[in-house]
Amino acid sequence: MGCCSMWLYRMLCFLFAFLLFQVNSSSISLLSSRPPQSCPSEHSSALIQFKNSLSLVSDSEICRDSYPKTESWNQSIDCCSWEGVTCHSLTGRVIGLDLSCSLLEGNLPSNSSLFLLQDLQWLNLAHLNFIDSQIPSEFSKLRSLTHLNLSYTGFHGSIPSSLGNLTKITFLHLKSNNFEGQIPDVFGNFKKLIMLDFSFNNFHGLFPSSVFNLTGVTDMAFNNNHLGGPLPYNISGLSNLQRLFLSANLLDGRVPGWLFSLPVNLALLDLSSNNLSGNIESCMLSKLRNLQELDLSNNSLLSLSSCSNDVNSTFPKLNILCFSSCNIHQFPSFLRASETLSHLDLSNNKIQGSISKLEAEGLESLTYLDLSFNLLTNVDQFPGKTLQTIDLRSNSLQGPLPTPPHSIHHLLISENELTGEIPSGFCNITFPQVLDMSKNNLSGIIPRCLANYRFLSVLNLRMNNFDGKIPTMCTDEGSWLRSLNLNNNQLEGPIPRSLVNCSELEFLDLGNNNLNDSFPRWLGVLSSLQILVLRSNKFHGPVPNLRSTSFFTSLRVIDISQNEFNGHLPTKFFQNLKGMKDIHEQPAGPYYIGELYYKDSMILTIKGLERTFEKILDIFTTIDFSSNQFEGQVPEVVGELKDLLVLNFSHNSLTGQIPSSLGNLLALESLDLSSNKIEGRIPMQLTNLIFLAVLNLSQNNLVGPIPRGYQFNTFTNDSYIGNLQLCGFPLSKECGESEGTEAPPSIFDEDDDNGRALTWKFAMMGYGCGLVLGLSMGYIVFTAGKPAWLVKIIQRAPNQKVRRQIQKN
Ligand SMILES: *[C@@H]1O[C@H](CO)[C@@H](O)[C@H](O)[C@H]1NC(C)=O
Ligand SMILES: *[C@@H]1O[C@H](CO)[C@@H](O)[C@H](O)[C@H]1NC(C)=O
Ligand SMILES: *[C@@H]1O[C@H](CO)[C@@H](O)[C@H](O)[C@H]1NC(C)=O
Ligand SMILES: *[C@@H]1O[C@H](CO)[C@@H](O)[C@H](O)[C@H]1NC(C)=O
Ligand SMILES: *[C@@H]1O[C@H](CO)[C@@H](O)[C@H](O)[C@H]1NC(C)=O
Ligand SMILES: *[C@@H]1O[C@H](CO)[C@@H](O)[C@H](O)[C@H]1NC(C)=O
Ligand SMILES: *[C@@H]1O[C@H](CO)[C@@H](O)[C@H](O)[C@H]1NC(C)=O
Ligand SMILES: *[C@@H]1O[C@H](CO)[C@@H](O)[C@H](O)[C@H]1NC(C)=O
Ligand SMILES: *[C@@H]1O[C@H](CO)[C@@H](O)[C@H](O)[C@H]1NC(C)=O
Ligand SMILES: *[C@@H]1O[C@H](CO)[C@@H](O)[C@H](O)[C@H]1NC(C)=O
Ligand SMILES: *[C@@H]1O[C@H](CO)[C@@H](O)[C@H](O)[C@H]1NC(C)=O
Ligand SMILES: *[C@@H]1O[C@H](CO)[C@@H](O)[C@H](O)[C@H]1NC(C)=O
Repeated sequence: MGCCSMWLYRMLCFLFAFLLFQVNSSSISLLSSRPPQSCPSEHSSALIQFKNSLSLVSDSEICRDSYPKTESWNQSIDCCSWEGVTCHSLTGRVIGLDLSCSLLEGNLPSNSSLFLLQDLQWLNLAHLNFIDSQIPSEFSKLRSLTHLNLSYTGFHGSIPSSLGNLTKITFLHLKSNNFEGQIPDVFGNFKKLIMLDFSFNNFHGLFPSSVFNLTGVTDMAFNNNHLGGPLPYNISGLSNLQRLFLSANLLDGRVPGWLFSLPVNLALLDLSSNNLSGNIESCMLSKLRNLQELDLSNNSLLSLSSCSNDVNSTFPKLNILCFSSCNIHQFPSFLRASETLSHLDLSNNKIQGSISKLEAEGLESLTYLDLSFNLLTNVDQFPGKTLQTIDLRSNSLQGPLPTPPHSIHHLLISENELTGEIPSGFCNITFPQVLDMSKNNLSGIIPRCLANYRFLSVLNLRMNNFDGKIPTMCTDEGSWLRSLNLNNNQLEGPIPRSLVNCSELEFLDLGNNNLNDSFPRWLGVLSSLQILVLRSNKFHGPVPNLRSTSFFTSLRVIDISQNEFNGHLPTKFFQNLKGMKDIHEQPAGPYYIGELYYKDSMILTIKGLERTFEKILDIFTTIDFSSNQFEGQVPEVVGELKDLLVLNFSHNSLTGQIPSSLGNLLALESLDLSSNKIEGRIPMQLTNLIFLAVLNLSQNNLVGPIPRGYQFNTFTNDSYIGNLQLCGFPLSKECGESEGTEAPPSIFDEDDDNGRALTWKFAMMGYGCGLVLGLSMGYIVFTAGKPAWLVKIIQRAPNQKVRRQIQKN
């Protein structure tokens, strides 16, 4: 389903259920006003047989209000009073059965006693789990059926054409099963059909053309299948259509003109994610006087333009218009006459040039405007006066930053070519929540007002030319600031101490500036702080050991590389980092930190390369203290940070030995201790690190044999160069007798690929597939160049969490 339809769609389902309920209850009230007839014994025994052919399950994930309706069925009581059963008021025969969400599962064989209930008019079996069942053609015996709901019933296989015998059907719901094959072209028989839902199945083949002959139908959903072919040029039906969902199919050809001249109240049209082509003209659109929601997104050949003889198009009810990822070249200024349009998504098109004052006028009700990923060069004025969200990321906007309307909540204007200072109008916004102006060429000082909007949650000015000091932050008590990104500017001076009052701060990136300060130990009280980046500044002095054990407890990413820090590595500091010791993954899997319209991003050096993390999983962990002047030993306690993925202490003056405790960092994927003065042997325990993809121990004073086994069989010379007294594979220098070689701990031949994969599999099972796969999967999301073996294992693993992860993207 496309970007906008969910809301109306739910309304539709509600309406459908409501109607069904109405029909049921009216017949119940009839029942109570006359002498009640009791249910025929062949009906009660058919019902009991049907109940007995199924079994109860304890839980259903999808239904919110599931309960076992059949539990209370008692054969010594008239079946007309059974839960879910409705009888005819005069004859007492069973005419309605609603067992939706009643926690049943089983088979539905063709001789099921259900098909003996031939008076059934309403049958709702939604969410009954008919595992391994095909839909029996015996449904066609239920000739009286007007309402049939088999949504979410787990049926698979094709739909028998005998279903076409249900000539009285008005409501037909077959949503979300595993149906496949062609949809039989039997709709010509369904003269009374009002609503049909075939969505979220695997139907293939051509779109059933007889659908277009239906005259009474108001709601039609075929979205999320594999239906192909063009839509017909000419149709004779659909004269009462109100909502049409055809998104996420393989439809091609032109959008037919009849869609815009239906004699009807079409309110919702979703044709998104197909391969439709053609041009939608303003005067066609304006014929749909009742249209509220239109989604034509993701049809790469479809364009939108105003009519050549531009009559004053009006769209009296249009509320949501989604036209993202199509082939639009101009801002549809004809929409300015619309007084009702609130949500306009034109992202990912080829819209060029500027939005002039004239074009931006009107659009009085617009609150959401997405023009991201286009080719705009100039915006004289933002459309609308009540705009709350504007997304202009990734255009070619030049010149000064335009002043947004006071009403703005979310301004996303990163990746443009804007210059000059932040205009004073930015101090006049009523309720800003997300301001992302990163990746431009803005300059001057950061206005103090920005830093002190109480409800501002995100301020991102990364990659600009701001200079001067960081302003005093969070002066208002109860500041909501969650994310502050000032990376890659020309900022100077100390970190303002007032940051300590930003109690919600999770993300702080001040890297790549000229800041000059000692280590901000006082930030340790910010109990939500997860990410702290100070890299490449002029920070100096030691990183102090903190007496309080409640400092920096949520920290997961700390990058203080390329500064002038000195002294010993802080043992107590590492001990405090609880966020790297016991990550408790959310039940729904890891999530990206950020909010609805904004995800935090950062640049780190991982595995020797600078990488941009456009999104950051809440389970990503790294410590980078490289390129400073730290001395002394690597503390043992670092080995307690068992969820650590990346550890970099390179380019310092560290001495002593590599602590064997590093072998406990079982999640570690990258270890860099290069360019120090570390001595002694490489501890055997490091071979435990089965996810280690990068090891750099070069330019130290290490001696003796290189351990063998697992990942150590994959590292090359580069990992060890500049240690003159190391020996053994992969170096050409062989170890002498006295040095001895340690045998690999693998029981498999190290050259046997299958054996290797098997060992890894064992290891992964050994400490929880979920977490390991979660981590590595997330990691792949933002890094390239994963070792092939890991990618293979992940692809092979049939793990739910991994799939959920992909869906979230
Ligand atoms: C059919 O079942 C689905 C899933 O529970 C529900 O959303 C829909 O409203 C039902 N339709 C009717 C007519 O009850
Ligand atoms: C069925 O109903 C009868 C009569 O009301 C009652 O005696 C009996 O206990 C009920 N049986 C069950 C299993 O509820
Ligand atoms: C349905 O047919 C199967 C054999 O195909 C049989 O075992 C079963 O008893 C029959 N069930 C009914 C309700 O007739
Ligand atoms: C249903 O329709 C088919 C034709 O599609 C017909 O051959 C069959 O006899 C009908 N079945 C019933 C049970 O009426
Ligand atoms: C649609 O209806 C017309 C007559 O109104 C008929 O000629 C045509 O065959 C029908 N098409 C389908 C596919 O049923
Ligand atoms: C479309 O159908 C109408 C009536 O069914 C007919 O008058 C018209 O000529 C048809 N148009 C085309 C292009 O076939
Ligand atoms: C766009 O449509 C293609 C198929 O035409 C589909 O694979 C893709 O997921 C869609 N993209 C979005 C963002 O819906
Ligand atoms: C979409 O249609 C065009 C021709 O209209 C065709 O070249 C292209 O392959 C189609 N794309 C898909 C994904 O089917
Ligand atoms: C369009 O609107 C303008 C101003 O509202 C009006 O002067 C003009 O006559 C309209 N044009 C048409 C073709 O209706
Ligand atoms: C700020 O808004 C007020 C009215 O809300 C207006 O008078 C003033 O000119 C605005 N200031 C700037 C700099 O836009
Ligand atoms: C950014 O603006 C400065 C002047 O403020 C200019 O010298 C520089 O070339 C600009 N950089 C880019 C990448 O446009
Ligand atoms: C933090 O806020 C408190 C109360 O609003 C204030 O007294 C204190 O001076 C602030 N701290 C800094 C460093 O600004």
